[in-house]
Amino acid sequence: MEKILINGGIPLRGEVSISGAKNAVVAIIPATILAQDVCRIENIPNISDVSMMIRILQQLGAGIKMINKNTLEIDTSTINSYTVSHSLTRHLRASYYLLGALLGRYSCARVAMPGGCDFGVRPIDLHIKGFELLGASVSIEENAMIDARADVLTGSPIYLDQVSVGATINVMLAAVKAKGLTVIENAAKEPHIVDLANFLNSMGADIRGAGTDVIKIRGVDVLHGCTYSIIPDQIEAGTYMVAAAATGGRVLVNNVIPKHLESITAKLIESGVHIEEYDDSVLVEAVGRPKHCNIKTMPHPGFPTDMQPQISVLLSIADGTSIVSEGVWDNRFRYVEQLIRMGASISVDGKLAVIQGVETLKGAPIKADDLRAGAAMLIAGLCAKGTTEIENIIHIDRGYEDVVEKFRLLGADISRVTVENPSQIANIV
Ligand code: UD1
Repeated sequence: MEKILINGGIPLRGEVSISGAKNAVVAIIPATILAQDVCRIENIPNISDVSMMIRILQQLGAGIKMINKNTLEIDTSTINSYTVSHSLTRHLRASYYLLGALLGRYSCARVAMPGGCDFGVRPIDLHIKGFELLGASVSIEENAMIDARADVLTGSPIYLDQVSVGATINVMLAAVKAKGLTVIENAAKEPHIVDLANFLNSMGADIRGAGTDVIKIRGVDVLHGCTYSIIPDQIEAGTYMVAAAATGGRVLVNNVIPKHLESITAKLIESGVHIEEYDDSVLVEAVGRPKHCNIKTMPHPGFPTDMQPQISVLLSIADGTSIVSEGVWDNRFRYVEQLIRMGASISVDGKLAVIQGVETLKGAPIKADDLRAGAAMLIAGLCAKGTTEIENIIHIDRGYEDVVEKFRLLGADISRVTVENPSQIANIV
């Protein structure tokens, strides 16, 4: 087991290159199941969620060739199973995309309930509703296996009662080869929804409207292999932007789509941070102490919930009081306990956090509760005075490629060390 050690207080300076988007690739790899021949996927981030997804496809019988660190060739013509066990799904929320992809290809899927970050209840009722409207029968067995099967999948209007990234993607996967027209209303509009639609269309699908709240999918009989490059990771980019601002630094964040970052950029500007946008990069420069501001997380194009823990670190050292309201998940402030250990002044009431900015955070032994909470702990450690030790970094490795190396290149004093005797931090807090 490893932990990350940071000697904080050094302003980040230099350039960082953003990797491919985690939440796009974890949908696109399962989507290759729908192709009848080889797909070559480029700009794949080297993260553990991807390794897990690759393992799952290999277990199903797919042939996977690693061309280089960030490029894979996936041949799903050899798949010989439509069952994915709990041991494979329990660490990965996105494993639920195997349901839509296997159902779309074989009209049959048996996938164990997904794991992933714990933000409170994470239902999948809308995914199931979508599959059923396409003509599938879905049952959840006693061993938490989800069984979905159909004689024939038929396009249908599907209204999602709530904007859901996962349900939108799963319905797209199941509907892309269904007979006739599927119309998803109240669809999610995140950049990775558009990326998946572009990927499927490159394979011969007929999907229109991705990126708006109405997506129309006309089923096609055959999807062929293609070469596709994953979009840059909006959340990884936002994490480095906030880290630059929180440490009082100046960082050029390269390989981004600035349009995807608008809500994050807007809030950083409101906090007094100087931002310059270029074609595929953004320059982030801190100007004095950050100012307080209020945040409400919402589905895209609102402020992303996956940036809420990171921006809360910036606000914890801002001048004045900020209110952060979590509009997507019921329980996404667990990490606050760790920031309080570092001297932050934050009170949480349900889905609301009131943050009274303090001058500085102090290094402390802390832990990553989940992926983005882990990113927030990194930022906290980088801007705190003294040494911070972060445990449970397995969560961070799920979604951030070469994170220690990237921060080190920006001048941070950060290293990864082996833990002889994993401390009792989890029990202390
Ligand atoms: C995805 C992201 C996650 C991000 C979230 C919101 C991936 C792999 N994960 O998660 O990082 O935090 O979007 O941007 O892309 N809901 C229901 N019923 C359902 C499905 C969802 O009620 O069947 C609710 C959820 O409880 C939540 C809201 O809808 O309150 C949004 O969830 P959703 O967009 O589905 O999140 P995920 O796709 O799981």
